[in-house]
Amino acid sequence: MTRIVILALLVAFGAGGLAQAAPAGRVVVLCSPNVEWCDLLKAQFPRATGIQLDFVRLSSGEALARLRAERANPVFDVWFGGTGDPHFVANEEGLTEFYRPKAWDDLRPSLRDAVQNKYIPLYAGVLGWAVNGALLREKNIPEPRTWEALADPRLRGLVAYPNPNTSGTGYTMIATIVQLYGEARAFDLLKRIHRNVAEYTRAGAAPGVLAGRGEVAIGVTFVHDAVLQILSGFPVTYGSARDGTGYEIGGLSLVKGAPNRANAIAFIDWALTPEAQALAAQAKSYQLPSNAKTPVPSVAPRFQDFNVIRYDFPKYGTAAVRDGLVGRWTREVFPLPK
Ligand code: F6P
Repeated sequence: MTRIVILALLVAFGAGGLAQAAPAGRVVVLCSPNVEWCDLLKAQFPRATGIQLDFVRLSSGEALARLRAERANPVFDVWFGGTGDPHFVANEEGLTEFYRPKAWDDLRPSLRDAVQNKYIPLYAGVLGWAVNGALLREKNIPEPRTWEALADPRLRGLVAYPNPNTSGTGYTMIATIVQLYGEARAFDLLKRIHRNVAEYTRAGAAPGVLAGRGEVAIGVTFVHDAVLQILSGFPVTYGSARDGTGYEIGGLSLVKGAPNRANAIAFIDWALTPEAQALAAQAKSYQLPSNAKTPVPSVAPRFQDFNVIRYDFPKYGTAAVRDGLVGRWTREVFPLPK
């Protein structure tokens, strides 16, 4: 009996000790943009606030899956970046909650209105593709100007796009094609594009890397991720579907039940300041920043140069629609022979 009491006391004190040591002065971030940006946040946030930042980098679809899996026992405090649709889903499912940040009035009204208080807009970016022109010329293939052109049989083995299960970019592509052509025609097109696909990548920026290396001629990606390849010296340009392309409003969300809630709020408020948003460009991330006071990098692609569709975020950000389209792609497109 005495032994049991002593054991219980040891466990209680042990747990108490752990509880004191772990969470104080820390914020744990689920970080979905390029890892260089996440690294800069980790270096700069403690300098600004004294709060330590730890992060895990996961693509948007993977991040949503992780939040779903940890629902009963959240590990993350904040979800930083990643495409907007899964932030909508996370809010619908009660995995995140809306927090109105101090910088709210400085955020671009068009982005604020589009996300309907489901999450905080962090940036915006246009969907397109990185083009390896030399490879196209070598094969005498014209540069694609439409989604349909990606199904050109001459592009066999020369296209990459991200897997919509893991990547928010991949989901944005599928949702865009569905919004343009309707679901039946879209899936017919995706099946025909499939014959040309060399690789479905895990992350959204990866197809641009493959195009830069000359492994594919067309890598579907956000055009700001193609800019990164261009500035890194790879022989690519960027293009997009002239008949209409989608875009993202990258998200910032407070995780429901965040273990370090006060620090999470401090991080969110800091992350939306022009100074913190300017870190994106330092990390060669060239989205349009959500805070209208943050300077827009001169190399950042401008929305007015693209034929951007009226992307229906509330619809394509519902769990039923998102999971439905991703499931259908996984069953009907992915396993097809090439
Ligand atoms: O690389 C940055 C970025 O394109 C973001 O703009 C976007 O939110 C995120 O990556 C999407 O990544 P993924 O497609 O891997 O989810």
